[in-house]
Amino acid sequence: MQQRQRLLSLLADGRFHSGEELGRALGVGRGAVWKMLRGAAPLGVEVFAVRGRGYRLGAPLELLERERILAALDASARALLGGLEVFPEIDSTNRWLLARAGRGLRRGHACLAEYQSAGRGRRGREWVSPYGCNLYLSVYWGYDAAPGGLHGLSLALGVAAAEALAGLGVDGVGLKWPNDLLLGGRKLGGLLIELSAESAGPWHVVAGAGINLRMPQAAAARIDQPWTELGAGGAARQGRNRLAGALLGALLLALERFGRAGFETFRAGWEQRDVTRGREVEVRDGAQLRRGVALGVDADGALLLREAGTTRRFVSGEVSLRMRP
Ligand code: BTN
Repeated sequence: MQQRQRLLSLLADGRFHSGEELGRALGVGRGAVWKMLRGAAPLGVEVFAVRGRGYRLGAPLELLERERILAALDASARALLGGLEVFPEIDSTNRWLLARAGRGLRRGHACLAEYQSAGRGRRGREWVSPYGCNLYLSVYWGYDAAPGGLHGLSLALGVAAAEALAGLGVDGVGLKWPNDLLLGGRKLGGLLIELSAESAGPWHVVAGAGINLRMPQAAAARIDQPWTELGAGGAARQGRNRLAGALLGALLLALERFGRAGFETFRAGWEQRDVTRGREVEVRDGAQLRRGVALGVDADGALLLREAGTTRRFVSGEVSLRMRP
């Protein structure tokens, strides 16, 4: 384990630890402890230093542990898991798997990270990924064929993620086409489906999910859209490892089911949680802005928009949908 990771796990209980005690545990001097903690600030770790008492984190952290995540997977999901890696720091879990997709990576290989330095959101956005507090998870899956194509995959996984959260007691998670998980009208998380560049036939897909559990203030300041988090109560009390296992299990099962049955079997689940259906929305498609009423999705997961008596269908991942107040 890296020294910095060890130091953060010593502090994870959220209590005060003196520089001397931390240094002793790591076999370094107090100055080195201070330097390491200063170096952790860009990762989004909030550390308080109080003279005479030492250091403590802004809030306790439950760090990810591979074994505990595996223990939280049920048998059917575990049978689909191709491998599991947990990184303290990475640029992007999606990028990591994409670079390996189609090169011996087993279907169902998953990775999680405590921190992403270049977390990717949809449409080229940054996904703000501070250390140790939210979930950043990616899963690789290979499809020889998928009934109806891959357009509906992001929606299917959104349904699976929302149902997994509901199973943990998070009620009222809504879905906004094509990939947003909303709670109380604000973004709780999102999915990013990326295809390996070499894929022209069998598709190498990386499905990434980011869920906000607790966002430190400094990181929150970098988010450029209305957002929310699970917060300290309710489901979050079950712990990040449990949540990670539940989310991973749901994604694996949905990835497999999508290959067998396509989007159609997720459609009813989508409709139950679709927050835009019947509402006035704006759809930006390249340079064009279209206004109309969202009619829901078709059997392939395409968005249907009623605009001046015409129904338009949108499939593109570049389309952005905004609800009108
Ligand atoms: C969105 O814009 O709503 C999609 C966000 C997807 C974020 C996740 S976090 C894990 C995975 N790795 C990334 O770099 N992005 C996805």
